[in-house]
Amino acid sequence: MSRMSACCYIVIVILIFIFCVQCSSLYVDSQISKIDRRNLSDPPPCPSLNVSALRLITFDLFGALMLTRSSLQSHIAELLPSLSSSDVERFTDTWLEAYVSYFGKSFPRSQTRQPFLWVIHSSLLQILESFKLSTIVPEDGSTFKSLIKAWSNLQPRPGTVEVLSKLSQKYQLGLLSNGDKDTLQTALRVFPSSVNISSIFSSDYPINCFKTCSAMYAQVLEAVHGDKTQVFHVAGSAYDTHGARTFGIFSGAIDSSAKHTSPPPCFAFDDIRQLISFFNV
Ligand SMILES: *[C@@H]1O[C@H](CO)[C@@H](O)[C@H](O)[C@H]1NC(C)=O
Ligand SMILES: *[C@@H]1O[C@H](CO)[C@@H](O)[C@H](O)[C@H]1NC(C)=O
Ligand SMILES: *[C@@H]1O[C@H](CO)[C@@H](O)[C@H](O)[C@H]1NC(C)=O
Repeated sequence: MSRMSACCYIVIVILIFIFCVQCSSLYVDSQISKIDRRNLSDPPPCPSLNVSALRLITFDLFGALMLTRSSLQSHIAELLPSLSSSDVERFTDTWLEAYVSYFGKSFPRSQTRQPFLWVIHSSLLQILESFKLSTIVPEDGSTFKSLIKAWSNLQPRPGTVEVLSKLSQKYQLGLLSNGDKDTLQTALRVFPSSVNISSIFSSDYPINCFKTCSAMYAQVLEAVHGDKTQVFHVAGSAYDTHGARTFGIFSGAIDSSAKHTSPPPCFAFDDIRQLISFFNV
């Protein structure tokens, strides 16, 4: 081999080497940017979830399944025709806020054994007084009773019947709600018989607390003999799904703002119809 061609050979080897280093660093760069976009600080939510292994799916009632605010508004407008439409909104929102203010609270047994009814009853008395309606709507009258019953007569979110009918064929379904048993049972009458929600987990005694107290989630886990792989809670808010995830069961929310909670929910959807593909039904 001449000295000239040996030199050429060495130059070519060096060029190939440089080329390879460039290529591999380009490859590494592209992988890093892929990881960046996926955001390494967010672990994949619920990696151990196997939807085929689930037996029981529970749903929040007021947040996940029902159009609670608009349904209450229309009942209040009908029952209290003297209220203007802006007063109906204010009445509804004050009542909902009163209910929400008890989230996470425990109730002494001496106070009540049906915390939900106690909360909506006592807050309704105060709201009627603030609207100067206490004499027109006495506590023992039929209008007062009908207002309380409004909470068990709610319209479902669009798509709910279809989703629950499909899930009913594959899973045992339940409600996990701060409501009392009677209100929850009555609320289910709005659904056709294709919707089979057979388990009711309420806040009634001996639970006597509102989510996110652990006793609420614990009763669901007990129903599957403590096997966390068999149960999933569909929450209606970031607050509820955070409670379930912190307790240690699988949960997702029909509330896209739940995306940012930690531990992360298994999903944070806007539309209940997205459950059909999530649960493969
Ligand atoms: C990635 O995670 C960080 C920290 O949690 C967060 O502030 C940021 O918004 C996330 N970026 C994306 C694109 O999700
Ligand atoms: C998921 O659960 C089903 C039913 O229990 C089981 O047959 C399957 O092997 C599980 N899949 C994985 C990946 O564990
Ligand atoms: C409803 O579901 C429960 C539990 O999954 C089941 O035992 C019951 O037979 C079902 N009822 C109907 C009418 O399908």
